[in-house]
Amino acid sequence: MQKLFANMFSRQPLEIIDGDYYYESAKFSHFESKESAKKDFVHIEDAWEQKRKGEYYDVSVLCDKITSRIAEEGKPFIEIACGTPMGIAPVILIKNPAIPCLITDLKANIINSCRYYINRRLPESNISLACFNCQDMPIKDNSFDYVTGNQGLGFCACNDDGFTLQAVHEVYRVLKFGGCYVGIENEYEHNEASAELLKWQQANLEYQDGFLKNKLTWKNIFETVGFKIESSDKCTLRITREMCFLNPNDNNNCEKIVKFNSDLISMTTLFIVRK
Ligand SMILES: C[S@@+](CC[C@H](N)C(=O)[O-])C[C@H]1O[C@@H](n2cnc3c(N)ncnc32)[C@H](O)[C@@H]1O
Repeated sequence: MQKLFANMFSRQPLEIIDGDYYYESAKFSHFESKESAKKDFVHIEDAWEQKRKGEYYDVSVLCDKITSRIAEEGKPFIEIACGTPMGIAPVILIKNPAIPCLITDLKANIINSCRYYINRRLPESNISLACFNCQDMPIKDNSFDYVTGNQGLGFCACNDDGFTLQAVHEVYRVLKFGGCYVGIENEYEHNEASAELLKWQQANLEYQDGFLKNKLTWKNIFETVGFKIESSDKCTLRITREMCFLNPNDNNNCEKIVKFNSDLISMTTLFIVRK
């Protein structure tokens, strides 16, 4: 852990492994951790390669502007819910490899895989890693100029009691006044059809359900938490009805969407929101 970041933590981790802070237990055995890191290595390498070639599907040209700004300013930043693609962080680090960056996720195996990759491919980087829940970040108030994420907050919107916006409040808390969250987030239009699709997918239904039931948009959410929207630019649009028509007999859900006669649009937006 770089000293700069070590000073920003507000409590002790459960474990420190290879210098990385684990606030969630790394339960797997040494053998398992090595095997899963080897498997993930290929995905992580692919993600970095795509970003090097500028082929990062969600980020597009829009993200290029803000990542260049962060790269030029060179201030330390934190990436949340990184997954194995490591979110937006690589796009910034490719432009300026010297920036100190804290890459984080809830899952210990993801942090372990990122460490395995960094030790082999990016040994000179200023990347630190930490494993924690974004709904309860072990980070002091007003610490960062930038928090980044690629569909990170959406995935942190669910806890044991169902839907929660706690992670958005936490991002606000750890940002300095004037600091920004730069994040790509996902939204759906046409609530009824979206709910049907998500039921079929059975994936992350609880948080998506929360968004749909409460009729929340990311713009509402950021403003409610206290952010000022600096910009919100559409990144991708997926018209699911067209996809369904490619193979309408695939599943019941496609039939239902056709029955609703509604285009189901899933879209990602790049938000830059300021504290
Ligand atoms: C699908 S990934 C997000 C996409 C990824 N950032 C990318 O660049 O493609 C969702 C990630 O969120 C993480 N996650 C889920 N809930 C979380 C939480 N409460 N706190 C932190 N990370 C969380 C998961 O472990 C997973 O790695």
